[in-house]
Amino acid sequence: MEKLLEVNNLSISFTQYVQGLNRHDTKVISDLTIDVGEGEIVAVLGSSGSGKSLLAHSILGILPYNSHVTGEIKYKGNVLDQELKEKLRGKEICLIPQSVNFLDPLMKVSEQAIGECKDEKEHAEKKIRQREIFSKYGLDESVDDLYPFELSGGMARKVLLSTALVGDPNLLIADEPTPGLDAKSVKETIEDIRNLKEQGKGVLLITHEIDVALKTADRIAIFYSGYVIEINTVENFKNVDNVLHPYTKALINSLPKNGFNLTEGVQPLEDLPGCPYWENCPVRLDKCKDNKPELVDHDGIMIRCFNFEEVNDGA
Ligand SMILES: Nc1ncnc2c1ncn2[C@@H]1O[C@H](COP(=O)(O)OP(=O)(O)OP(=O)(O)O)[C@@H](O)[C@H]1O
Ligand SMILES: [Mg+2]
Repeated sequence: MEKLLEVNNLSISFTQYVQGLNRHDTKVISDLTIDVGEGEIVAVLGSSGSGKSLLAHSILGILPYNSHVTGEIKYKGNVLDQELKEKLRGKEICLIPQSVNFLDPLMKVSEQAIGECKDEKEHAEKKIRQREIFSKYGLDESVDDLYPFELSGGMARKVLLSTALVGDPNLLIADEPTPGLDAKSVKETIEDIRNLKEQGKGVLLITHEIDVALKTADRIAIFYSGYVIEINTVENFKNVDNVLHPYTKALINSLPKNGFNLTEGVQPLEDLPGCPYWENCPVRLDKCKDNKPELVDHDGIMIRCFNFEEVNDGA
């Protein structure tokens, strides 16, 4: 399987000026490594504020001006610099944004979905595709001529989703595509994402809904306090004994069918010197407080925990 997307050691921080001239750097994403292959759906699962949208925006090249980024992002083996990001955006790489604010308030929604075309022929072809996809999501012809402010919340979400699909992406970054949708549209969204996979395309599915991740993805990456702490297969996620990180185990035990047993406290906001899960961890070691574990490959499972570094320690 060829890699479509590779994110290597990505860190994102923000410079803010507090009370005039006091510069303060806040790290939001730390040392993030993840990849998506052809015909693969990788879910990124993390709680609110854990940096999921920033990951999406850094891949698309639309981070805010006060962000500072280190690390590397590659698409089909080529480094995605700003120029390449802009060239591929909306074409080979499409985003389903989390916020409806991404819609242009001054443009009819059908024209936004069709996007820039080189001539009338291309426009006519894309118009047909736009209509097909819109009607699939229950957006009838009267919606085409509406402006974003005229849409209800649910309609706007469907427009965002359809717009990304009209672009016919090779790599889709879906940032929380399902909240606010009716049950039928959630099912259709999941089906469409799985269809892209069948066509050999790649999907990075960003969500805080573990159910959506389990129903849709091939692999799931768990975000905790700005770090990826585990990347494991969906098969393994179905059994708590087959996931490795203590936080992932707590997460799975917290599922409704397992009795909502999430015992851990709030995720730390500051980047601590040690493991971000140290304070809440039931299996912590002495060194976890002051040392940061690396993300290592443990029999094909990526894990960031000293309990699984015995091979490295012994080397
Ligand atoms: N321009 C900015 N300046 C400073 N901090 C920012 C900026 N943009 C985002 N952040 C911070 O980065 C963190 C991560 O934001 P992000 O939107 O990526 O979270 P998220 O995981 O997508 O959350 P949610 O599940 O609510 O969508 C937040 O704590 C946010 O306050
Ligand atoms: Mg978000």
